[in-house]
Amino acid sequence: MIPDFLYGTAWKEERTAALTELALRSGFRGIDTANQRRHYFEAGVGQGLAAAYRAGIVSREDLFLQTKFTYQAGQDHRLPYDPAADLSTQVAQSVASSLEHLGTDHLDSYVLHGPASGHGWTAHDSEVWAAMARARDAGRVRVLGVSNVSLRHLQQLVASGAEPPAFVQNRCFARVGWDWEVRQFCAARDIVYQGFSLLTANVDALRHPLVGGIAARHQATLAQVVFRFAQAVGMLPLTGTTDAAHMREDLASRALALAPDEVRAIETIAVAGGR
Ligand SMILES: NC(=O)c1ccc[n+]([C@@H]2O[C@H](COP(=O)([O-])OP(=O)(O)OC[C@H]3O[C@@H](n4cnc5c(N)ncnc54)[C@H](OP(=O)(O)O)[C@@H]3O)[C@@H](O)[C@H]2O)c1
Repeated sequence: MIPDFLYGTAWKEERTAALTELALRSGFRGIDTANQRRHYFEAGVGQGLAAAYRAGIVSREDLFLQTKFTYQAGQDHRLPYDPAADLSTQVAQSVASSLEHLGTDHLDSYVLHGPASGHGWTAHDSEVWAAMARARDAGRVRVLGVSNVSLRHLQQLVASGAEPPAFVQNRCFARVGWDWEVRQFCAARDIVYQGFSLLTANVDALRHPLVGGIAARHQATLAQVVFRFAQAVGMLPLTGTTDAAHMREDLASRALALAPDEVRAIETIAVAGGR
C-alpha cells in the first residue's frame, strides 16, 4: 500500500538511524532513501528500521520502503557498485546493496535518482531502466520510479516504448504551478507524483498573504497548509524534518479540510501573486 506521506532521510548522517526510528514512532510508514552515501546514509536507515522492529513499533509489512539508483556522476567515492562494470551490473549491485542496508528481501519502490542528462532520456537511461525492470521481475522490487525529470524526459521515456514509471519524484516549485506540466502528465497515466522541497523551494509562496490567511482560518501552520494542499491536488509529499514536533505537525496536516477554492488559489499562487 502507498502511504500518504513519505519521510525523507537525506542529509542526516549519524542521526539517520535515530531520526528514522523517531519518524516511525511518530507515525510515518513510508521511508525514502537512496544508495548514495554522499547525501544519504542508507545503512543508517536500516539500523533505524531494525530498532523500530525490535521495539515492536512496526513490522516490515507495515512499511513502504523506497530507495534509488544513482549514477556515478551523482556519487562521491563511496560507491555501492563497481564503476568499471556495465550499467546493468551496477544496477543489480546497487539493488543488492540496498537490500542488505535495509535488511529486507524486497523494496517497495525503486527510483532512478536522475537521468544521465538534463536534456533528455538517453540510451544510458534506457539501459538502467531495463535493468531496474529486471530487478522488479525477479521480485526484488515492487514498482519503479524516476526522479528529477522534466516533461521532455517523461515523454521520451514513454516514446522509447519502455513501461512508464509508477512514481515521479520531483522538486516541486510553486512558480511553475507546483510542477503543473509534469503533474498533468502523471495524472493522465496514473503515475503518482511525489513532491519534495515543498517548503524550502517555495519560500515566496509560503510568505504569500493568501497562504497566511488560509493557515489562520484553519488554525494551522504554513507548512501544514502546503502539505495538505499537496495531497489535495494528488501529490504524495515528502518531509525530511529532523524535529519531533514538526513530524507530528506534518502528519497532522492530513486532517486539514481545505476548501476546493482554497486549493485552487494555492495552486495558482505564482500567477495570482503577479510575480
Ligand atoms: N530525488 C531527489 O533528488 C531528492 C532531492 C532532495 C530531497 N529528496 C527527498 O526529499 C526529502 C525531503 O527533502 P526536502 O528537500 O523536502 O527538505 P527537508 O529535508 O524536508 O527540509 C525541509 C526543511 O523544512 C523544515 N520543516 C519541515 N517540517 C516543518 C514544519 N512543520 N514547520 C517548519 N519547518 C519545517 C525542516 O526543518 P526541521 O528539520 O527543523 O523541521 C527543514 O529545514 C529528503 O530527505 C529526500 O528523501 C529527494
